[in-house]
Amino acid sequence: TWTPKSFVSDSIHRIRNQIGDGRAICALSGGVDSSVAAVLLHQAIGDKLTCIFVNNGLLRKGEAEQVQDTFRQNLGLNLLYVDASERFITRLAGVTDPEVKRKAIGEEFIRVFEESAIELSDTQFLVQGTLYPDVIESETPDNRASARIKTHHNVGGLPEHMDLDLVEPLRYLYKDEVREVGMELGLPREIVMRQPFPGPGLAIRIIGEVTEERLEILRECDWIVLDEITRAGLYEEIWQSFAVLSDSRTVGVMGDFRTYGYVCAIRAVSSSDAMTADWVRLPYDVLGRISTRIVNEVPGVNRVVYDITSKPPGTIEWE
Ligand code: XMP
Repeated sequence: TWTPKSFVSDSIHRIRNQIGDGRAICALSGGVDSSVAAVLLHQAIGDKLTCIFVNNGLLRKGEAEQVQDTFRQNLGLNLLYVDASERFITRLAGVTDPEVKRKAIGEEFIRVFEESAIELSDTQFLVQGTLYPDVIESETPDNRASARIKTHHNVGGLPEHMDLDLVEPLRYLYKDEVREVGMELGLPREIVMRQPFPGPGLAIRIIGEVTEERLEILRECDWIVLDEITRAGLYEEIWQSFAVLSDSRTVGVMGDFRTYGYVCAIRAVSSSDAMTADWVRLPYDVLGRISTRIVNEVPGVNRVVYDITSKPPGTIEWE
Protein backbone atom coordinates (compact mmCIF):
# COMPACT_ATOMS: atom_id res chain seq x y z
CA THR A 1 0.00 0.00 0.00
CA TRP A 2 1.01 3.55 -0.76
CA THR A 3 2.18 5.72 2.12
CA PRO A 4 3.87 9.12 1.95
CA LYS A 5 6.81 7.66 3.86
CA SER A 6 7.36 4.76 1.46
CA PHE A 7 6.87 7.09 -1.49
CA VAL A 8 9.60 9.40 -0.19
CA SER A 9 12.13 6.64 0.40
CA ASP A 10 11.38 4.91 -2.93
CA SER A 11 11.62 8.23 -4.76
CA ILE A 12 14.93 9.18 -3.17
CA HIS A 13 16.29 5.81 -4.23
CA ARG A 14 14.99 6.18 -7.80
CA ILE A 15 16.25 9.77 -8.11
CA ARG A 16 19.75 8.81 -6.94
CA ASN A 17 19.79 5.98 -9.47
CA GLN A 18 18.70 8.27 -12.27
CA ILE A 19 20.97 11.21 -11.48
CA GLY A 20 24.04 9.50 -10.11
CA ASP A 21 26.78 12.11 -9.71
CA GLY A 22 25.00 14.53 -12.05
CA ARG A 23 23.50 17.93 -11.33
CA ALA A 24 19.91 19.07 -11.64
CA ILE A 25 18.03 22.34 -11.98
CA CYS A 26 14.47 23.05 -11.03
CA ALA A 27 12.15 25.90 -11.91
CA LEU A 28 10.70 26.70 -8.52
CA SER A 29 7.43 28.64 -8.50
CA GLY A 30 6.67 28.34 -4.80
CA GLY A 31 3.52 26.37 -5.58
CA VAL A 32 2.90 23.01 -3.93
CA ASP A 33 4.05 20.85 -6.86
CA SER A 34 7.39 22.45 -7.68
CA SER A 35 8.11 22.96 -3.97
CA VAL A 36 7.56 19.32 -3.09
CA ALA A 37 9.55 18.20 -6.14
CA ALA A 38 12.43 20.53 -5.19
CA VAL A 39 12.60 19.41 -1.56
CA LEU A 40 12.40 15.75 -2.58
CA LEU A 41 15.31 16.31 -4.97
CA HIS A 42 17.21 18.23 -2.31
CA GLN A 43 16.88 15.30 0.08
CA ALA A 44 18.09 12.94 -2.65
CA ILE A 45 21.01 14.89 -4.13
CA GLY A 46 21.56 17.83 -1.76
CA ASP A 47 23.69 20.66 -3.15
CA LYS A 48 23.72 19.15 -6.62
CA LEU A 49 20.30 20.70 -7.07
CA THR A 50 19.93 24.37 -8.01
CA CYS A 51 16.49 25.96 -8.03
CA ILE A 52 15.71 28.93 -10.23
CA PHE A 53 12.91 31.22 -9.14
CA VAL A 54 11.80 33.67 -11.81
CA ASN A 55 9.89 36.73 -10.68
CA ASN A 56 7.74 37.44 -13.74
CA GLY A 57 6.13 40.51 -12.18
CA LEU A 58 2.79 38.69 -12.26
CA LEU A 59 3.00 37.36 -8.71
CA ARG A 60 0.83 38.14 -5.73
CA LYS A 61 1.72 40.62 -3.05
CA GLY A 62 4.72 39.51 -0.97
CA GLU A 63 5.15 36.26 -2.88
CA ALA A 64 8.70 36.73 -4.17
CA GLU A 65 9.98 37.52 -0.66
CA GLN A 66 8.08 34.63 0.91
CA VAL A 67 9.47 32.08 -1.54
CA GLN A 68 13.04 33.29 -1.00
CA ASP A 69 12.67 33.24 2.79
CA THR A 70 11.20 29.77 2.84
CA PHE A 71 13.53 28.02 0.44
CA ARG A 72 16.81 29.80 0.94
CA GLN A 73 16.68 30.76 4.62
CA ASN A 74 14.51 28.03 6.13
CA LEU A 75 15.07 25.00 3.93
CA GLY A 76 18.61 25.76 2.82
CA LEU A 77 18.19 25.11 -0.90
CA ASN A 78 20.49 26.58 -3.57
CA LEU A 79 18.21 29.25 -4.94
CA LEU A 80 18.89 31.54 -7.86
CA TYR A 81 16.47 34.47 -7.79
CA VAL A 82 15.89 36.21 -11.11
CA ASP A 83 13.86 39.39 -11.24
CA ALA A 84 12.55 39.56 -14.81
CA SER A 85 9.38 41.58 -14.09
CA GLU A 86 10.20 44.34 -16.53
CA ARG A 87 10.80 41.94 -19.38
CA PHE A 88 7.44 40.28 -18.91
CA ILE A 89 5.49 43.53 -18.57
CA THR A 90 7.17 44.91 -21.69
CA ARG A 91 6.40 41.73 -23.59
CA LEU A 92 2.73 41.91 -22.58
CA ALA A 93 2.19 45.47 -23.75
CA GLY A 94 -0.85 45.65 -26.03
CA VAL A 95 -1.68 41.94 -25.62
CA THR A 96 -5.33 41.21 -24.78
CA ASP A 97 -6.05 37.72 -26.14
CA PRO A 98 -5.79 35.09 -23.34
CA GLU A 99 -3.93 32.50 -25.40
CA VAL A 100 -1.54 35.08 -26.81
CA LYS A 101 -0.84 36.17 -23.22
CA ARG A 102 -0.12 32.59 -22.17
CA LYS A 103 2.14 32.03 -25.16
CA ALA A 104 4.07 35.26 -24.59
CA ILE A 105 4.56 34.49 -20.90
CA GLY A 106 5.53 30.87 -21.59
CA GLU A 107 8.10 31.84 -24.22
CA GLU A 108 9.55 34.63 -22.10
CA PHE A 109 9.79 32.26 -19.15
CA ILE A 110 11.75 29.70 -21.14
CA ARG A 111 14.07 32.42 -22.45
CA VAL A 112 14.76 33.78 -18.97
CA PHE A 113 15.17 30.30 -17.56
CA GLU A 114 17.65 29.28 -20.27
CA GLU A 115 19.67 32.47 -19.84
CA SER A 116 19.80 31.96 -16.08
CA ALA A 117 20.83 28.37 -16.48
CA ILE A 118 23.81 29.20 -18.71
CA GLU A 119 26.01 29.59 -15.63
CA LEU A 120 25.02 26.08 -14.63
CA SER A 121 26.36 24.50 -17.77
CA ASP A 122 27.37 21.25 -16.13
CA THR A 123 23.74 20.38 -15.46
CA GLN A 124 22.16 17.33 -17.10
CA PHE A 125 18.74 17.10 -15.45
CA LEU A 126 15.63 19.23 -15.28
CA VAL A 127 13.20 18.66 -12.40
CA GLN A 128 9.50 19.27 -12.97
CA GLY A 129 6.60 18.99 -10.56
CA THR A 130 4.28 17.45 -13.13
CA LEU A 131 1.28 15.67 -11.59
CA TYR A 132 -0.90 12.91 -12.94
CA PRO A 133 -3.83 15.20 -13.89
CA ASP A 134 -1.40 17.43 -15.88
CA VAL A 135 -0.27 14.34 -17.77
CA ILE A 136 -3.80 13.19 -18.61
CA GLU A 137 -5.02 16.63 -19.61
CA SER A 138 -2.13 17.01 -22.05
CA GLU A 139 -2.59 13.58 -23.53
CA THR A 140 -6.18 13.89 -24.64
CA PRO A 141 -6.66 11.63 -27.69
CA ASP A 142 -7.13 14.57 -30.00
CA ASN A 143 -4.20 16.73 -29.04
CA ARG A 144 -4.53 19.44 -31.68
CA ALA A 145 -4.22 22.94 -30.30
CA SER A 146 -7.80 23.68 -31.32
CA ALA A 147 -9.08 20.68 -29.42
CA ARG A 148 -7.53 21.78 -26.16
CA ILE A 149 -9.52 24.15 -24.04
CA LYS A 150 -6.56 26.08 -22.69
CA THR A 151 -2.88 25.46 -23.07
CA HIS A 152 -1.22 24.30 -19.90
CA HIS A 153 2.40 25.07 -19.91
CA ASN A 154 2.88 23.02 -16.78
CA VAL A 155 3.45 20.30 -19.34
CA GLY A 156 5.00 20.70 -22.74
CA GLY A 157 6.74 24.01 -22.21
CA LEU A 158 10.21 22.64 -21.76
CA PRO A 159 13.37 24.48 -22.67
CA GLU A 160 14.09 22.47 -25.82
CA HIS A 161 17.53 23.85 -26.60
CA MET A 162 18.92 22.75 -23.30
CA ASP A 163 18.93 19.04 -23.97
CA LEU A 164 18.22 18.02 -20.41
CA ASP A 165 16.79 14.78 -19.11
CA LEU A 166 13.53 15.18 -17.26
CA VAL A 167 13.07 14.18 -13.65
CA GLU A 168 9.38 14.09 -12.74
CA PRO A 169 9.08 12.45 -9.32
CA LEU A 170 5.38 13.37 -8.85
CA ARG A 171 4.16 12.15 -12.23
CA TYR A 172 1.82 9.51 -10.81
CA LEU A 173 0.42 11.50 -7.91
CA TYR A 174 -2.74 13.49 -7.36
CA LYS A 175 -2.70 16.82 -5.55
CA ASP A 176 -3.83 15.47 -2.18
CA GLU A 177 -1.06 12.86 -2.30
CA VAL A 178 1.51 15.54 -3.15
CA ARG A 179 0.37 17.47 -0.08
CA GLU A 180 0.82 14.38 2.10
CA VAL A 181 4.31 13.92 0.68
CA GLY A 182 5.05 17.60 1.36
CA MET A 183 4.08 17.19 5.03
CA GLU A 184 6.21 14.05 5.22
CA LEU A 185 9.17 16.03 3.85
CA GLY A 186 8.70 18.67 6.54
CA LEU A 187 7.68 21.57 4.31
CA PRO A 188 5.90 24.42 6.12
CA ARG A 189 2.13 24.05 6.19
CA GLU A 190 1.67 27.41 4.37
CA ILE A 191 3.43 25.92 1.36
CA VAL A 192 1.88 22.46 1.51
CA MET A 193 -1.68 23.75 1.82
CA ARG A 194 -1.24 26.53 -0.70
CA GLN A 195 -4.04 26.97 -3.20
CA PRO A 196 -2.92 26.44 -6.81
CA PHE A 197 -1.83 29.53 -8.71
CA PRO A 198 -1.47 29.52 -12.50
CA GLY A 199 1.94 29.90 -14.16
CA PRO A 200 0.84 33.02 -16.10
CA GLY A 201 -0.14 34.44 -12.71
CA LEU A 202 -2.17 37.61 -12.38
CA ALA A 203 -1.94 38.22 -16.14
CA ILE A 204 -4.83 35.84 -16.88
CA ARG A 205 -6.89 37.45 -14.09
CA ILE A 206 -6.71 40.86 -15.70
CA ILE A 207 -9.20 40.98 -18.53
CA GLY A 208 -7.67 42.96 -21.37
CA GLU A 209 -4.25 44.54 -21.31
CA VAL A 210 -1.86 43.91 -18.42
CA THR A 211 -0.32 47.16 -17.20
CA GLU A 212 1.65 48.01 -14.07
CA GLU A 213 -1.29 50.07 -12.85
CA ARG A 214 -3.85 47.30 -13.32
CA LEU A 215 -1.49 44.72 -11.82
CA GLU A 216 -1.19 46.88 -8.71
CA ILE A 217 -4.99 47.17 -8.47
CA LEU A 218 -5.48 43.42 -8.80
CA ARG A 219 -2.67 42.66 -6.34
CA GLU A 220 -4.42 44.71 -3.67
CA CYS A 221 -7.84 43.12 -4.39
CA ASP A 222 -6.31 39.65 -4.33
CA TRP A 223 -4.57 40.33 -1.02
CA ILE A 224 -7.86 41.39 0.59
CA VAL A 225 -9.68 38.29 -0.71
CA LEU A 226 -7.03 35.94 0.69
CA ASP A 227 -6.78 37.87 3.95
CA GLU A 228 -10.51 37.68 4.62
CA ILE A 229 -10.77 34.04 3.54
CA THR A 230 -7.87 33.15 5.83
CA ARG A 231 -9.29 35.13 8.78
CA ALA A 232 -12.58 33.30 8.33
CA GLY A 233 -10.67 30.00 8.60
CA LEU A 234 -11.71 28.94 5.09
CA TYR A 235 -8.40 29.04 3.19
CA GLU A 236 -7.55 25.35 3.40
CA GLU A 237 -11.04 24.07 2.51
CA ILE A 238 -11.15 26.08 -0.69
CA TRP A 239 -9.42 24.85 -3.83
CA GLN A 240 -8.81 28.35 -5.19
CA SER A 241 -10.03 31.78 -4.15
CA PHE A 242 -9.01 34.96 -5.90
CA ALA A 243 -9.97 38.26 -7.48
CA VAL A 244 -10.35 39.01 -11.18
CA LEU A 245 -10.06 42.52 -12.58
CA SER A 246 -12.57 43.04 -15.36
CA ASP A 247 -12.22 45.60 -18.10
CA SER A 248 -15.73 46.91 -17.40
CA ARG A 249 -16.20 50.17 -15.61
CA THR A 250 -19.36 51.20 -13.84
CA VAL A 251 -20.68 54.29 -12.15
CA GLY A 252 -20.66 54.53 -8.38
CA VAL A 253 -20.91 57.13 -5.67
CA MET A 254 -18.49 57.89 -2.86
CA GLY A 255 -19.29 60.73 -0.49
CA ASP A 256 -20.47 63.57 -2.68
CA PHE A 257 -18.69 62.30 -5.75
CA ARG A 258 -19.60 60.17 -8.69
CA THR A 259 -16.99 57.51 -9.42
CA TYR A 260 -16.32 55.55 -12.57
CA GLY A 261 -14.24 52.51 -11.67
CA TYR A 262 -13.48 48.90 -12.55
CA VAL A 263 -15.62 45.93 -11.58
CA CYS A 264 -13.72 43.37 -9.51
CA ALA A 265 -15.01 39.80 -9.50
CA ILE A 266 -14.42 37.33 -6.68
CA ARG A 267 -14.04 33.65 -7.51
CA ALA A 268 -13.90 30.81 -4.99
CA VAL A 269 -14.21 27.18 -6.06
CA SER A 270 -14.07 23.73 -4.53
CA SER A 271 -12.46 20.94 -6.52
CA SER A 272 -10.19 17.95 -6.15
CA ASP A 273 -8.23 18.14 -9.40
CA ALA A 274 -9.38 21.31 -11.23
CA MET A 275 -11.05 19.26 -13.98
CA THR A 276 -14.45 20.05 -12.49
CA ALA A 277 -15.25 22.63 -9.84
CA ASP A 278 -18.18 24.07 -7.94
CA TRP A 279 -18.49 27.63 -6.68
CA VAL A 280 -18.13 27.89 -2.93
CA ARG A 281 -21.12 29.07 -0.90
CA LEU A 282 -19.08 31.69 0.93
CA PRO A 283 -20.83 33.15 3.97
CA TYR A 284 -22.52 36.47 3.14
CA ASP A 285 -20.62 38.29 5.90
CA VAL A 286 -17.28 37.18 4.43
CA LEU A 287 -18.37 38.37 0.98
CA GLY A 288 -19.59 41.59 2.56
CA ARG A 289 -16.26 42.30 4.26
CA ILE A 290 -14.35 41.55 1.06
CA SER A 291 -16.56 43.91 -0.91
CA THR A 292 -16.41 46.75 1.62
CA ARG A 293 -12.66 46.51 1.98
CA ILE A 294 -11.94 46.37 -1.75
CA VAL A 295 -14.09 49.38 -2.55
CA ASN A 296 -12.67 51.36 0.38
CA GLU A 297 -9.03 50.32 0.14
CA VAL A 298 -8.37 49.89 -3.56
CA PRO A 299 -8.50 53.06 -5.63
CA GLY A 300 -9.89 52.43 -9.10
CA VAL A 301 -12.41 49.73 -8.09
CA ASN A 302 -15.95 50.73 -7.14
CA ARG A 303 -17.95 47.53 -7.57
CA VAL A 304 -17.51 43.91 -6.48
CA VAL A 305 -19.41 40.91 -7.86
CA TYR A 306 -19.31 37.19 -6.98
CA ASP A 307 -18.90 34.55 -9.68
CA ILE A 308 -21.43 31.71 -9.15
CA THR A 309 -20.50 29.59 -12.18
CA SER A 310 -19.41 25.98 -11.86
CA LYS A 311 -16.92 24.17 -14.10
CA PRO A 312 -18.17 23.05 -16.53
CA PRO A 313 -19.52 25.16 -18.15
CA GLY A 314 -17.25 27.87 -16.73
CA THR A 315 -13.54 27.46 -16.29
CA ILE A 316 -11.88 28.30 -12.98
CA GLU A 317 -9.91 31.21 -14.43
CA TRP A 318 -11.66 33.88 -16.47
CA GLU A 319 -9.17 33.69 -19.31
P1 XMP B 1 -9.28 26.38 -15.81
O1 XMP B 1 -9.36 27.88 -15.83
O2 XMP B 1 -8.89 25.79 -17.14
O3 XMP B 1 -8.09 26.05 -14.81
O4 XMP B 1 -10.52 25.74 -15.24
C1 XMP B 1 -7.82 24.76 -14.31
C2 XMP B 1 -6.65 24.89 -13.37
O5 XMP B 1 -5.48 25.23 -14.08
C3 XMP B 1 -4.99 26.49 -13.68
N1 XMP B 1 -4.56 27.16 -14.91
C4 XMP B 1 -3.28 27.25 -15.33
N2 XMP B 1 -2.14 26.83 -14.76
N3 XMP B 1 -0.94 27.70 -16.59
C5 XMP B 1 -0.97 27.10 -15.39
O6 XMP B 1 0.09 26.75 -14.88
C6 XMP B 1 -2.06 28.15 -17.23
O7 XMP B 1 -2.01 28.72 -18.31
C7 XMP B 1 -3.29 27.89 -16.55
N4 XMP B 1 -4.59 28.17 -16.87
C8 XMP B 1 -5.34 27.71 -15.85
C9 XMP B 1 -6.12 27.18 -12.95
O8 XMP B 1 -5.65 28.11 -11.99
C10 XMP B 1 -6.83 25.99 -12.33
O9 XMP B 1 -6.17 25.57 -11.15
